[in-house]
Amino acid sequence: DMYGDRQNSLGRDYSQAADREAHAKALETVDREKLTSGPIIGGKLRAGIDPQAVTNPFDRSQVLGHVSEATSTDIDAAVEAAGRAQIDWDRQGGAKRAVVLRAMADALEADLDRLVALLSREAGKTLNDGVAEVREAADFCRYYALLAERDFAAPQTLKGPTGETNQLILHGRGVFACISPWNFPLAIFTGQIAAALAAGNAVLAKPAEQTPLIAAEAVRLYHKAGLNPDLLALVPGRGETVGAALVAHPGVDGVAFTGGTDTAGAINRSIAARPGAIIPFIAETGGLNGMFIDTTALKEQVIDDVIQSAFGSAGQRCSALRILYAPKESADALIEGLKGALAVQTVGDPADPKTEIGPVIDSESRRALEAHVERLAREAKVIARAALPLGSEKGDLFAPTIAEIPTPDFLEREVFGPILHIYRYEPSELQSVASRLAARGYGLTLGVHSRIEAFAAEVTALVPAGNVYVNRSITGAVVGVQPFGGEGLSGTGPKAGGPNSLIRYAAEKAISVNI
Ligand code: SER
Repeated sequence: DMYGDRQNSLGRDYSQAADREAHAKALETVDREKLTSGPIIGGKLRAGIDPQAVTNPFDRSQVLGHVSEATSTDIDAAVEAAGRAQIDWDRQGGAKRAVVLRAMADALEADLDRLVALLSREAGKTLNDGVAEVREAADFCRYYALLAERDFAAPQTLKGPTGETNQLILHGRGVFACISPWNFPLAIFTGQIAAALAAGNAVLAKPAEQTPLIAAEAVRLYHKAGLNPDLLALVPGRGETVGAALVAHPGVDGVAFTGGTDTAGAINRSIAARPGAIIPFIAETGGLNGMFIDTTALKEQVIDDVIQSAFGSAGQRCSALRILYAPKESADALIEGLKGALAVQTVGDPADPKTEIGPVIDSESRRALEAHVERLAREAKVIARAALPLGSEKGDLFAPTIAEIPTPDFLEREVFGPILHIYRYEPSELQSVASRLAARGYGLTLGVHSRIEAFAAEVTALVPAGNVYVNRSITGAVVGVQPFGGEGLSGTGPKAGGPNSLIRYAAEKAISVNI
């Protein structure tokens, strides 16, 4: 049993003085050191072009370091080195690759305090989110190490006619481009790379423009953990330049992408336009995630889980709750409870252990969310907004918002941030309301709160979703426990952190020998 004694990574307890002190020290270090990110090829940082300052989303006057963009010459060199190194890496087999991935997991855990500090400064992550993210990154490495041993260490023998042996071998496809988002700049960045590596590929990794520093740290840790540096290059830059060049590169044999649905569509079209090449595209994208409550739901539990699902990580999770469907009969009481719970949320500096909700990622995002709130004020009803601390204008803090929408079709697309939309439904409307959500075409997470099994079963049948959560929050999928990823506009699969995660990173070869 591959799950035998598998354990997820353990965290920190910031109520303990020693852990708090380690955190404060790590923040000081990160603030002092001024990190540099840029193209890292063969383990060496190159000059790149167009250096930019990387700043703290909570306080834009704080410069954390600099990043320069990879040039097309850098990308060519990285693809070439990766292609050469991949052959041997693939032949080594899954057991050897597992050793490197486990060393990476250990390296991440050993560096936890520094990584958490950097996650707060560069990506606006609260301490709890930062710890969860380092743990998730380590979990991905260890879980994919197990899959490498399970599926890539030895051929699978298949039954056939007497006098013939039949074997199935999984192996790497070649060089993967891994394009990752800013909302999990360590966990998803590390996880995509771990999946591609485990299956026997080499990787060119393009981090999100907003979070190149933590990505450079992760790449350095992989190399320190014993990975041949040629097998993993960092190629930072904009999607329109570096991302586009990677996807179109003739030496790239597969693309893994996590990010917006529109970008996934553009990548898909670009891959389709490549002459003489058909390559796999693994996409994990957005969601328009709903939670359905009925009158048997336990109010206090709903309030906790809704606050967590909609406002945790400043709503910047693809799994986050966007629309709460509350039955008319209990909607008023529920809304009162949610208002009270929102009012006591602490919004502020993510590096402060007391903070529950940090900033959004950048001013473009903040302005888009404010514009959406203006639309809600005009066409719907803004019910409550959390208070922002003094001085919030120095960065991109956004006041978490609860609004009531007049029709179930009010939201057409994912709104990526801490805004909860509530729709009151009549019990007789359930089917039509759920079908209208389904008609939007997404299928990521879905929540249900009810004591009636038939209600949960009906909602689950009506709304497509890769991850369904009943009587709990709908975020925070755990590697190996809740394999994560959606369907339709939400992604291609396979899910991350599940037993089938590596299959599309691999090619299969069936060998029949007549003896
Ligand atoms: N895996 C994350 C979650 O479950 C993605 O947003 O919340």
